[in-house]
Amino acid sequence: MARRNGNERKLFSHIRPKSAIAESFRTLRTNINFSSVDWPYKVLLTTSPGPEDGKSTVSTNLAVVMAQAKSRVLIIDCDLRKPVIHKYFDLDNIRGLTNLLVQDLEIEDAVYATEVEGLFVIPSGPIPPNPSELLGSSKMVELLEKVAAAYDVVILDTPPVIAVTDAVILAPMADSVLLVLRAGNSRIDMAREARDRLVRTGARSVGVVLNEADIRGDGYYPYYYYSYYGSKDTLSKEK
Ligand SMILES: Nc1ncnc2c1ncn2[C@@H]1O[C@H](COP(=O)(O)OP(=O)(O)OP(=O)(O)O)[C@@H](O)[C@H]1O
Ligand SMILES: [Mg+2]
Repeated sequence: MARRNGNERKLFSHIRPKSAIAESFRTLRTNINFSSVDWPYKVLLTTSPGPEDGKSTVSTNLAVVMAQAKSRVLIIDCDLRKPVIHKYFDLDNIRGLTNLLVQDLEIEDAVYATEVEGLFVIPSGPIPPNPSELLGSSKMVELLEKVAAAYDVVILDTPPVIAVTDAVILAPMADSVLLVLRAGNSRIDMAREARDRLVRTGARSVGVVLNEADIRGDGYYPYYYYSYYGSKDTLSKEK
């Protein structure tokens, strides 16, 4: 039995696979799969307008339900400012993405297996002074090409779009961007600004995940996720 460190409890899709939350992540997985008929994806980037919208919750739980569907999934913690992915899986963060980007290592040296079958993690590694520069490097492009060939799905967890440029730098390297909006937390003007910045990068597909949506419409906010996933065209029509 793995140690429980608090963060691990957030991996509801693994711990409580029959819960409504796990079910909503499976719905998100289905929606992404449907939309990939037009936009085949391999590398998925998760971001949001501001802090604490639920990016890392979505990245990790989505990775779990994708692995449960027999995909080989890799999550890379590209939040080199406030990395948390290692905490969800109770891993140390001694070696990770930053080591791969600045040292001459094999990718496998920074890949950790998790207790979820088929799910692997590259933690952030030590926090660097120049995150944007590292993420925008040609070594990052090469790394993504290599992992895309080795896994069925690669999920990139990133910092908020409005605060720092990291997600915008990475967006063109991904096949699909998931913009997480959190009911009661994301302001509509910030959401639009974030979407526009991502679309301007030439990101091939930008979808929206609504976190903590009031799906019953009665003002009661259940702990629940509702998702909408659309292509660039759908989003521009929405404007
Ligand atoms: N639907 C939800 N209901 C209740 N709590 C939630 C929900 N989604 C996320 N949280 C909690 O909100 C906090 C922030 O979530 P998370 O770390 O996923 O956000 P983030 O966007 O990755 O944050 P950051 O900007 O720091 O990277 C966490 O404690 C998480 O457990
Ligand atoms: Mg996060």
